[in-house]
Amino acid sequence: MRIRKAVFPVAGLGTRFLPATKASAKEILPVVDKPLVQYAVKEAIAAGAEEMVFITSHTKNSIMDHFDRDYELEATLEEKGKTELLKAVRDVLPSGISCVYIRQPEQMGLGHAISCAIPAVGDQDFAVILADDLIAGSFQPCMAQMQRVYQEYGTSVIAVQRVPWEETYKYGIVEVEPIGPGLSEIRGIVEKPDPDQAPSNLAVVGRYILTPRIFRLLDKTKPGAGGEIQLTDAIESLMSEQTVLAYEFEGTRYDCGSKFGYLKANVEMGLQHPEIGDEFRDYLKTLTGSWDDDDDTPVKATS
Ligand code: G1P
Repeated sequence: MRIRKAVFPVAGLGTRFLPATKASAKEILPVVDKPLVQYAVKEAIAAGAEEMVFITSHTKNSIMDHFDRDYELEATLEEKGKTELLKAVRDVLPSGISCVYIRQPEQMGLGHAISCAIPAVGDQDFAVILADDLIAGSFQPCMAQMQRVYQEYGTSVIAVQRVPWEETYKYGIVEVEPIGPGLSEIRGIVEKPDPDQAPSNLAVVGRYILTPRIFRLLDKTKPGAGGEIQLTDAIESLMSEQTVLAYEFEGTRYDCGSKFGYLKANVEMGLQHPEIGDEFRDYLKTLTGSWDDDDDTPVKATS
């Protein structure tokens, strides 16, 4: 039992990163040297997925271009003997992996985006990865951890993590019954509740393994929080028919949908980067932690 298809909803406008995202997809924003969407695809492949299904919009051609072969670029790199770069370019989409692009005609929410995937997913269990939730820093990538849970229980699995109570309004929040270490059965789920209404501070992050029943339920889902068709609301209906598990994954999640989270991801992953990590660490050490209030810049240590 293996998930073969992964869905990437990438049609969102990325308004929080304007003007950077005016003419280019937010999922193409790089963390160090790879676009966000490439981390997401790599994670899906590491979990065994073979078909990548992108739910896109008319401003997202850069995503298609990124996962397409660029024979001219490859030939130039080959000619110049730039073998490392050539490998990096070819590794964007390993052989045997295919991509499908489906246009979401209108921005009607995450649930609506997922329902657009039905022609590509059909009657199979499938994964969903939100590329702006970048998860790193664990021995096994998040979706591969979830795949292990799925293989054992054969049912829907949603990744969750504890968030500060005052931030519940940013997330789908679950109410759970623990069944093992880091694993629970979901008893309730609500989209973006205010802290005083939230059933817990256990938040859904952008990783789901879902059964195809969700498509029928999405069809019946009315607009919810923010006037959008919410995946969370369809999952609530799914729970009344099938077991849905919440899995507390190992790893660090960076909210790359926000500027602060995106910068944190770049700093922390920059520090681990094999090519520039050491130099970057030395540079950061020169920032003493004191601040020059006059021109609002960090004070550099004199060596
Ligand atoms: C979406 C989901 C929400 C989830 C979040 C994780 O919200 O609707 O349930 O907690 O992703 O990042 P969005 O951030 O797209 O508003």
